[in-house]
Amino acid sequence: MISVLFVCLGNICRSPVAEGVFRMLVAERGLEKEITCDSAGTSSYHLGDLPDRRTRQNALEHGLNLTHRARRMTGEDLAQFTYFVAMDEANFDAVIKLSRRSVGLVSDDNIFLLREFDPLVSDDPNVPDPYYEGPEVFEDVYQITYRCCEQLLNYLMSE
Ligand code: 4NP
Repeated sequence: MISVLFVCLGNICRSPVAEGVFRMLVAERGLEKEITCDSAGTSSYHLGDLPDRRTRQNALEHGLNLTHRARRMTGEDLAQFTYFVAMDEANFDAVIKLSRRSVGLVSDDNIFLLREFDPLVSDDPNVPDPYYEGPEVFEDVYQITYRCCEQLLNYLMSE
């Protein structure tokens, strides 16, 4: 079983979308018995909250009903998941730091930035943080996440 943990700051905007999109793609390909996923934040700002209202609205427009409850990533996740996919560099660094404190549990090779899988050329390695932005950035998050998750799934299936 392959397991993927998507990680952002608050676990209410970006990583719940990645979790929802990735799970949908896994289901479309009939891979539910081979791949699981979840999401978590590197902060505890929104513990227990549903995804942001604007995130849920945007996801619903794409046919996704997001019901995840925000949680903070812990050292235990390092033992539970195979791959860690951060939504931006700050959260990537936070996952790396956490993994250094748990020597031997996870190789840096299993920690990615989501946009490493972006099929479109971009100078920006980050999925934008939409929290203080308008609805167009929530749509950007969805589009970037969707195309990157497709490629991430292709990559994991080729490993
Ligand atoms: P996320 O977005 O990391 O994609 O969930 C944010 C959510 C909340 C905050 C920042 C970013 N915040 O500052 O509360």
